[in-house]
Amino acid sequence: MNQTILILDFGGQYKELIARRVRECKVYSVVKPGDISVDEIKKISPIGIILTGGPNSVYEEDSPHIDKAVLEMGIPVLGICYGTQLLAYTMGGKVEPCSVSEYGKTDMSVDTASLLYSGLDKCQVGLMSHTDQITKLPCGFKSIAHTDNCPNASIENKKLKMYGMQFHPEVESTPNGTKFIKNFLYNVCGATGDYNLKDLEARLIEDIRAQVGNGQILLALSGGVDSSVCAALLSKAVPGQLHCVFVDHGLMRKDEGDEVEAAFSNKNLHFIRVNAKNRFLGALNGVTDPEQKRKIIGAEFIKVFEEESNKLPDIKFLAQGTIYPDVIESGGSKAATIKSHHNVGGLPENMKFEGLVEPLRGLFKDEVRALGRQLGLSRAYVDRQPFPGPGLGVRIMGTIDSEKIEILQNADAIFREEIKNHRIKADQYFAVLTNTRSVGVVGDFRTYDYTVALRAVKTSDFMTCEYVPIPHKVLGAVSTRIVNEVKGVGRIVYDITGKPPATIEWC
Ligand code: XMP
Repeated sequence: MNQTILILDFGGQYKELIARRVRECKVYSVVKPGDISVDEIKKISPIGIILTGGPNSVYEEDSPHIDKAVLEMGIPVLGICYGTQLLAYTMGGKVEPCSVSEYGKTDMSVDTASLLYSGLDKCQVGLMSHTDQITKLPCGFKSIAHTDNCPNASIENKKLKMYGMQFHPEVESTPNGTKFIKNFLYNVCGATGDYNLKDLEARLIEDIRAQVGNGQILLALSGGVDSSVCAALLSKAVPGQLHCVFVDHGLMRKDEGDEVEAAFSNKNLHFIRVNAKNRFLGALNGVTDPEQKRKIIGAEFIKVFEEESNKLPDIKFLAQGTIYPDVIESGGSKAATIKSHHNVGGLPENMKFEGLVEPLRGLFKDEVRALGRQLGLSRAYVDRQPFPGPGLGVRIMGTIDSEKIEILQNADAIFREEIKNHRIKADQYFAVLTNTRSVGVVGDFRTYDYTVALRAVKTSDFMTCEYVPIPHKVLGAVSTRIVNEVKGVGRIVYDITGKPPATIEWC
């Protein structure tokens, strides 16, 4: 059995990101609700406990709290943001609103004599996002980091093996955050690094088998990285029980429907292609609201799957390649909804399937890719850029029709070809058909055509991104080709926004 870190959820957006950082440090972790009992914790037998952040204030009565007995179990504890305030508050300290709230990357001075910061420089940067702070430390605790406005940016009680960070070590904006977490795991909890990708695969397979038993599964295969890795994993876990349905909603990239069919129809699995373009376009007719489009596409998908499942014998489960960023951004009971990813937010409540199988739900894109390579999928395949389930439906602003789809498919194909030709490094890149038309002149004639926006981003987890500074020469060449070769496009713009504040897709 692997050593385990228990992550207790207090409603923060980043709990799975913390789990992922722990995995990166080669330690297994499980995420459980913050009100877990001492008995349940004993069963898990963790080597350490991490308390996540959360949007509340500990001094408010209906905020999530922790049973003090959990902290008294003698297991090392690390609090993060709200988790730190909770730790200090529960141990007898005082938490109050900040006179100056801190947001964003903040310079800190850390105590390198502490086990948490050993081997690191005194000057560090942490991503802060808090309106409360610890104003009185509990007995036996001391401050091990401070910023200009926060005297207790990190706290420790070495004897009780209790630590806290007011900032977020799990996000990329805290450059040495993973090292801080690693120090907690190895220096404080005594981790040995006994967890790797093989263990992850074995656990996922074990969970799939436990969930589905002998049941037949229908997998929503889009041909994208996530659903393809999901197909490989499921066919390894429960061979012979898997039926892959590829719904061609007519919103694929240029020629992609045929490419997916070619890639999967020769494989050793039951592959079914359903051509449903007219049906999707009918359902989307006249719809302009992005959330409504996503919900319609998601609901239509499920209807098609249900229909297909009725044609197959005894389908019990619907499988999807949902990954963690899809889940977190679709919102939950505590986190805010950014957008309803079609494979999460669009599911109807009275689905006819007995259950949903989403083995990649806790993983991030790069982990899914690594798993795909381990499962034997070719590098060229798993390293492809992601493509969202609702396809070009989230890249056409305003109403969607066949003509707009064709314009976007052609513009997008040119952009992708030029990015490849010029060897531009980007993790995701595509064209968007805006709903804006503008006046132009071609020959002696006035035109009034669409504006296409180009987007290329760098990111490792797709939760945040930066735009790629594509050289103007390349952008110019793409622009010239698109306006010359694609009828209906009169203007090209390049999107130079990061995430946040924008998202990667436009809808
Ligand atoms: P956003 O636009 O939320 O995108 O910044 C983050 C990543 O998720 C992809 N994406 C989706 N993937 N179903 C998916 O399978 C969806 O509904 C969906 N919406 C966005 C997006 O392409 C990017 O990689």
